[in-house]
Amino acid sequence: MSENYYITTPIYYVNAEPHIGHAYTTIVADVLNRFHHLSGRKTLFLTGTDEHGDKIAAAAAACDESPKAYVDRISRMFRDLWPRLNISHNRFIRTTDEIHQETVQYILNRVNERGDIYFSEYEGLYCFGCERFYTERELVDGKCPDHQKAPEVIKEANYFFRMSNYQDWLIDHIHRHPDFIRPQRYRNEVLSFLSEPLEDLCISRPKSRLTWGITLPFDDNFVTYVWFDALINYVSALGYPDGEDFHAFWPVAQHVIAKDILKPHGIYWPCMLKSAGIDPYQHLNVHGYWNVNEGKMSKSVGNVVRPLDLVDIHGLDGFRYFLLREMVFGLDSEFSEQALIARINSDLANDLGNLVSRSLTMIHKYFQGEIPPPGPSEEADDALKQSALNGIDTYQTLMEKLALHKALMVVWEVISKVNKYIDATAPWVLAKSDQERLSTVINHIFDTLRIVGGLLWPFIPESAEKLQSQLGLAVTGKSVTLEGLRDWGGERPQQKITKAPALFPRIEQPTQLPKEKGPSPQPEPSPPEKGGRKAQKPLISLEDFQRMDLRVATIRKAEPISGSKKLVKLTVDMGELRTVVAGVKGHYAEGDLTGRQVLVVANLQPVTLMGIESFGMVLAAEDASGFHLLVPDSEAEPGSTVS
Ligand code: ME8
Repeated sequence: MSENYYITTPIYYVNAEPHIGHAYTTIVADVLNRFHHLSGRKTLFLTGTDEHGDKIAAAAAACDESPKAYVDRISRMFRDLWPRLNISHNRFIRTTDEIHQETVQYILNRVNERGDIYFSEYEGLYCFGCERFYTERELVDGKCPDHQKAPEVIKEANYFFRMSNYQDWLIDHIHRHPDFIRPQRYRNEVLSFLSEPLEDLCISRPKSRLTWGITLPFDDNFVTYVWFDALINYVSALGYPDGEDFHAFWPVAQHVIAKDILKPHGIYWPCMLKSAGIDPYQHLNVHGYWNVNEGKMSKSVGNVVRPLDLVDIHGLDGFRYFLLREMVFGLDSEFSEQALIARINSDLANDLGNLVSRSLTMIHKYFQGEIPPPGPSEEADDALKQSALNGIDTYQTLMEKLALHKALMVVWEVISKVNKYIDATAPWVLAKSDQERLSTVINHIFDTLRIVGGLLWPFIPESAEKLQSQLGLAVTGKSVTLEGLRDWGGERPQQKITKAPALFPRIEQPTQLPKEKGPSPQPEPSPPEKGGRKAQKPLISLEDFQRMDLRVATIRKAEPISGSKKLVKLTVDMGELRTVVAGVKGHYAEGDLTGRQVLVVANLQPVTLMGIESFGMVLAAEDASGFHLLVPDSEAEPGSTVS
């Protein structure tokens, strides 16, 4: 295996604030970067921002800023976010960097000199959201599948890249390199695109329509299409064509992206590279989408999950662990705060946290914080040692294959084994009867924890380093390698081990995530809504919601309750008659209520209000203008369920 490793994330558009999708890709690249560092390789990890094009120009105009001021500000938000998520990138590129712009022009010239660019009039269906032309075949019900809008017909003279020249070469390359695009479902998707004739790619935009871009080196009336510009970042950051890093790292380049940008990376980019005379990248690693409430995150729906909100509330490593453990690389996943808390509590606080705390306590209590020389080992000791060492091998294989969630499962199998080993060997009994055996057991626990700390470092670096220093060990990032972890009985604490605070405190209940601000990142927060809506309550699961029995009811009788200013006694028909006390007095006259249909929570514990037992609650909305009963929009059978 090569000694070098080069990993990239997409360069993110600066038309929106970073959300958990961006965080996930970047954390995955970070985990892989750290893992390869741990494996002894020299690594280069690139991320950055994509700053040209219609979308960005429009976002800047919406904020009443010049494009340059706007991209500087939003790019800074990404740049500032990554250290807070403990991202270990060593290069950050912006498409407005001079070196990048020069490289784009250099490559355009090469591709042009090769005869792969031509000028032509074109009429096509253009989606401004995607900044690209669509073919009829690609539309869903006549609309862009991403933006759900019908594209506009545009007729323009533009420059085109002869992508079709490289179709056969690309198909052949993919067949000859089965893991060029992985996982396989995305390789198949690209091969299926390629089974139809490939159209040439429009690579310019006339300056009459868009000026915010890189001028074509051979015609200054045009700027470069944003994708032709953006993809080149992966080589401009290496100093292509002459840079040392280009020669050292490009042959081992790996990209990490989500499925949304498979086509530009799986088709345009290899064809562009081939035309420019550059070898293709080594791997394209494609993951699925994080969804919220079974739908896409969207600013208009207001369900965008911002990473720092979660990190501030639940801690960085809980957040990182959840993303990496929950998503099967390549498939979509559902985000919920409830699931995040469940993972933190069960895996981190219970399994790992308790193991660490009981182990440190025993070392401190029985050996004054030192690791004694071990005595002869028994079968149980050898079994634990073997499973920890085998765990390193399996983990390594899984990490190389990007099965990150499975690699974590392997670490948790080791954690479970050492927990069981402690229960079976009962060091607290040995402490009274057999010091030599106790020493052996403590040594085995120590070495297993040492391995667990090392294997967890790529995933949860801050906590892993805390664990390593609690064990009195050197911190992974600086000196330890995967090979070093295999040295059973080798490294021993450099200082006395003491009892330490819990690595992961339990989280008792969901907290309120701050609400999303608004459609585009504004310099100032938007003013509060008129009427002041109440803050959203903590998330509940679908199961929680399904425990509620909501019914349609017809009010048969409404009677005042003497002494109450707010309450009315209702007799409602829900297939059977029952009494419900409702706080509607002053909003509706009793006479107006009779005969109306309402919605009732039917399975609330009965409560006594002003001496009357109430068997349910009537649903209503309240705002500054008053009180509004919720009703079915047409007559429904009394007792019908609401779902
Ligand atoms: O496409 N789940 O930038 P972008 C998982 N500038 N990952 C998600 C996600 C989600 N719901 N939403 C976004 C661009 N991502 C171009 C890239 S590269 C030469 C140019 C992540 O800001 C994921 O990595 O729209 C996805 O591919 C990327 O953000 C798109 O980022």
